[in-house]
Amino acid sequence: MKSDLKSLRQAFTKKNFGNPPFWFMRQAGRYLPEYRAIRADVKSFLTMCYTPSLASEVTLQPIRRFGMSGAIIFSDILVIPDALGVRVTFEEKKGPLLTPVTSLDGLHWNNEKLLPVYEALRLTKAALPEETTLIGFAGAPWTLACYMVQGQSDQAFGKVRDIAAADPVFFGKLIEILSESVVKHCVAQVEAGAEVIQIFDSWAGVLDEQEFKRWVIEPTKSIVSAFKKTCPHIPVIGFPRNAREGYLSYARETGVDGINIDYTVSLEWAADALQDICLVQGNLDPVLLAENKEATLAEARRIISMLAKKPFIFNLGHGILPHTPVEHVQALCDLLKNETA
Ligand code: CP3
Repeated sequence: MKSDLKSLRQAFTKKNFGNPPFWFMRQAGRYLPEYRAIRADVKSFLTMCYTPSLASEVTLQPIRRFGMSGAIIFSDILVIPDALGVRVTFEEKKGPLLTPVTSLDGLHWNNEKLLPVYEALRLTKAALPEETTLIGFAGAPWTLACYMVQGQSDQAFGKVRDIAAADPVFFGKLIEILSESVVKHCVAQVEAGAEVIQIFDSWAGVLDEQEFKRWVIEPTKSIVSAFKKTCPHIPVIGFPRNAREGYLSYARETGVDGINIDYTVSLEWAADALQDICLVQGNLDPVLLAENKEATLAEARRIISMLAKKPFIFNLGHGILPHTPVEHVQALCDLLKNETA
């Protein structure tokens, strides 16, 4: 059977006890010279995302070079607000800029906008080696709402928490619209060839326990449940970054098949508390990978010895940093292809 070749999909079946499958968040990106060469000729980051041949090519670049077990489609979480009619641009050195959302009236899903993303998935699927799993993704409602309400990056999104507390009806409606959009986008990605879905909740860690339950756990649970009605066999990995002890309730209550842990999570705790509930993915510190090759290899061995005896996919605790030496990534991939728990 074709799927037997796929070590990444097999990891969810609790039968992966050789060397662990691996991929890295932001594995396509500025640390690769071949990515910079393509990016230099393209006007904007969103043009890259919406040009299927380019998005597919940069998705394949790290696979050709390093042979990861999974290829994550080159796109962004902010294509969802873009498809809802919010103006989204990416400024050099500043990150994303959005027109802040103050009313829900103008938000209407325009599926046409995302057709190039689905075409990029089709092209990528056709070009990928048989054994490589194609990963689709979406931002989670809370994290998307952070960027949509604030209009740009922020370290704590205090203003967004204030608005959610002051006008929970407005904010709840926004979260609902986003939840429906996430389900549509994930199902369409599966129809275009995605075999695993990852949900990024990068700002889950700024919330208190009550807010976390209301704006992270509950929407994620409803997304997973709606998604699984159409795509029952597609594993969903959740990443409520920096959620600390919240990872436990997230793993128990949302219905995800896997959980990506950030690099602050203790491996002992992850193995004891999380891995009997669902697959764990993670969690090498991207700063370590950028700065110190020997320490990276030692830490990778420690992560494998602690986590690869139960369902596990090796990844980072957050995305690869742009200044990471390619040689460090190469050395890590060489180790991962040979190291067993
Ligand atoms: O390789 C992959 O992981 C797939 C592609 C991918 C990108 N963004 C490409 C990208 C994925 C999965 C994302 C997710 C994403 N985007 C998240 C969640 C993960 C996280 O980092 O917490 C978030 C919060 C965003 C929003 C976003 N996109 C920001 C804040 C920025 C600016 C910061 C930066 O690194 O420049 C982006 C831009 C972005 N998304 C780039 C890439 C490769 C850099 C743009 C460029 O190359 O010009």
